[in-house]
Amino acid sequence: MKNSPIILALDTPEIDLARQWIRATNEVIKVYKAGLEFFLAHGAEGIAKLREAGDFDLFLDLKLHDIPNTVASAAKSVHSINPKFLTVHASGGRDMVSAAVQALPHVDITAVTILTSLSEESLAEIGFGQSALNSAVGLAKLSVESGARAIVCSPLEVSAIRSAVGNGPTIITPGVRPAGSPLGDQTRVMTPREAIAAGSTLLVIGRPITSLGTPDLMLAKAREITDTI
Ligand code: C5P
Repeated sequence: MKNSPIILALDTPEIDLARQWIRATNEVIKVYKAGLEFFLAHGAEGIAKLREAGDFDLFLDLKLHDIPNTVASAAKSVHSINPKFLTVHASGGRDMVSAAVQALPHVDITAVTILTSLSEESLAEIGFGQSALNSAVGLAKLSVESGARAIVCSPLEVSAIRSAVGNGPTIITPGVRPAGSPLGDQTRVMTPREAIAAGSTLLVIGRPITSLGTPDLMLAKAREITDTI
């Protein structure tokens, strides 16, 4: 039984490389994230090729954001891929999140709160009247009320969001770095143990594992991260 909280980010447009990463780590990791970079290049066929490389749950990170009818139709279009998680932008609003939930009742519709790439100034510029933290908490509550079963947020927002939504929803955080790993372009990070202690359920981790190159090193790192939590 795999009990790792790691979601491995398959951040590459190369199918063969993504398959190598799955094969290397699938003994420990049970969820893999394919995002727009991979999906726009390869579509459902690409996902089918990934599935040949291992036994896993798919986190399909499409961050849908449109009118409710269009989001519902888009969600139905990925039904046959059978993702475990499908992301939508919470800022699409209550009706949009709810439309996705109704379109795919068996999928954990996963609401992305505030992108961590947005500064407080950028948020004000696009019309958010509150701080990133308060906006993220409000969007998380709205999403859960609309039927979303999972939330994506910065590790720095986890504890406030966990208090606001209770223990039921899955909370997923990127921006996680094992002690000693290079930060890359991440700035405000927590260690896996800190993120879980703050209330995260699952952690999106990419380069600290995938940059290691060899299958043995990748598996060892996945195991080490899992064991330190
Ligand atoms: O390689 P790294 O561990 O930084 O990968 C993190 C993954 O999480 C990437 O796929 C990145 O796009 C995603 N992500 C993030 N920060 C966010 C939202 C998503 O790093 N706020």
